[in-house]
Amino acid sequence: MKGTVLSVFLIAVSVAAMSAFAQKSPPAAAVEDRDWWKHAVFYEIYPRSFADSNGDGVGDLNGITSKLDYLKDLGVDAIWITPCFPSPQVDFGYDVSDYENIDPMYGTLADFDELAREAKKRNIRIILDFVVNHTSDQHPWFLDSKSSRTSAHRDWYIWRDGKGRQPPNNWVSIFGGSAWKFDPTTNQYYYHYFYAQQPDLNWRNPAVKDAMFDVTRFWYKRGVSGFRLDAVDTLFEDPNLTDNPILRPGKNAFGDPIEQDKFNTKLPEVHQVLRGLRKIADGYDAVLIGETWTADVAELNQYYGKGNNELQLPMDFLFTMVNKLSPAEFRKQIAEVNAASGWPTFVISNHDIVRSYDRYGDGQHNDQIAKLMAALYLTLRGTPIMYYGEEIGMKTTPPTRKEDVKDPIGRTGWPKEKGRDGERTPMQWDDSANAGFTTGKPWLPVPPTYETHNVAAESKDPDSVLEFYKRVLRLRRTNPALLYGNYTPINEDNPNVLSYLRLYRNHGVVVALNMAKTRQKISLELQPHGFISAKKLISTGGSAAHGGEVSLPPYGVFIGELGK
Ligand code: NOJ
Repeated sequence: MKGTVLSVFLIAVSVAAMSAFAQKSPPAAAVEDRDWWKHAVFYEIYPRSFADSNGDGVGDLNGITSKLDYLKDLGVDAIWITPCFPSPQVDFGYDVSDYENIDPMYGTLADFDELAREAKKRNIRIILDFVVNHTSDQHPWFLDSKSSRTSAHRDWYIWRDGKGRQPPNNWVSIFGGSAWKFDPTTNQYYYHYFYAQQPDLNWRNPAVKDAMFDVTRFWYKRGVSGFRLDAVDTLFEDPNLTDNPILRPGKNAFGDPIEQDKFNTKLPEVHQVLRGLRKIADGYDAVLIGETWTADVAELNQYYGKGNNELQLPMDFLFTMVNKLSPAEFRKQIAEVNAASGWPTFVISNHDIVRSYDRYGDGQHNDQIAKLMAALYLTLRGTPIMYYGEEIGMKTTPPTRKEDVKDPIGRTGWPKEKGRDGERTPMQWDDSANAGFTTGKPWLPVPPTYETHNVAAESKDPDSVLEFYKRVLRLRRTNPALLYGNYTPINEDNPNVLSYLRLYRNHGVVVALNMAKTRQKISLELQPHGFISAKKLISTGGSAAHGGEVSLPPYGVFIGELGK
């Protein structure tokens, strides 16, 4: 798509009005939009790995509280804490045995309240991770459910007879093996899309829905500002248990057939549940973020719901699926998500995928590329969700020996599948022993890069990845074009440089990102208006604008304010 009539009009209006406002300070963010989550920056914390306050080698809530000043200074508005509820920790918290408490490993409810109080003082909101699809097999609901075929909670989970000595159908668990486990107590199988220790709840049972909806109320009343909903696309299954089609011959990393999860994921019944959760959330001005593993805009639109009555922020995983610096790919995807019916959400890394530093880094310009990617997802129209450690350029460091693997996926899938330990290593605070994460033995080894890439060292280096993040986040908070502006791509045929404008009333910002390892120039000539000028706000590597042209060194970033 070339610049549309509308965008040309907006450019004209913005450029014309620019000079009149050049001297004025930007208006306060809050007046423009009451949806706080549209302009907030979210930061994902994997609590095991963030900060350990008691020396047991595992991070905890008091550790997070002790780092709130850091998070404030960094410039985040909300923290999403991955599950910190009581759990046998088979899947590191994604196997919950009590939804309304805190795992002793992470602290107590009083510690949570203290964290909430301290966060509130700093205007940082808390988002919890709600594991909606399944519980732990140690949850009292499941223990009762499995105790007899007539127990009160029997129908809270999915129990079926086998086919002779075989499971009820061919569905496989995403973590390997059949998705059915035989339980000799009652001679039936139960269904688990994830580990056998994570039995799926039966969302067709209204009692399950009521109990789970109440969990959200419990936490809202404790001051939580929303939830990240885990694995939303797996809530419902075909009640007839139709076999899944086989996608192609062969085996996956776990030695299972390669299936299309047609009859056990993405069933439309989930939307009813999301509407119900949203109704409750609206009463608390809360946000629902969805782990909606999709890069498909039509599917995202379904998750926003008709009239935006489901998830405010269904996560768009487009960026995690493009693993090369390709302006054309990014352009296409950004355009698509901007055309969606709801507000975009951008994620470049999380606790389940290789960090962006490794996916995009070329080994020689890793820090420049980390800044480039930061500039991209923090200046787009939409809500960015950062992952802890991205801001200091943390590197994925997978285990090299099977015996060191902690993530069960890595243990069952080794060596093809190394698991997710590599992206969950301890946060690198300084260059002291264990990177300042713990005084004990860290649950996962600290990567060797902690000596150069840590918060203390990078805070002192104006050229560090961390200082770059802070600068961009500061600009984003105060710049109306970055907060509210539309997204207008420019130079759309350029194969090396991704560039776009953010325009809002009389404010305009141009962003130019050189995704190539050679120097590049782009023109700021916007027909039919001629050249626009841009005053540098933030740049890397000496990127600069002169007379309607921006010149960018390899992987250089230029963010400028439009002028006349
Ligand atoms: C998605 C979570 O992000 C992942 O870490 C977890 O293993 C599965 N859901 C199961 O809860």
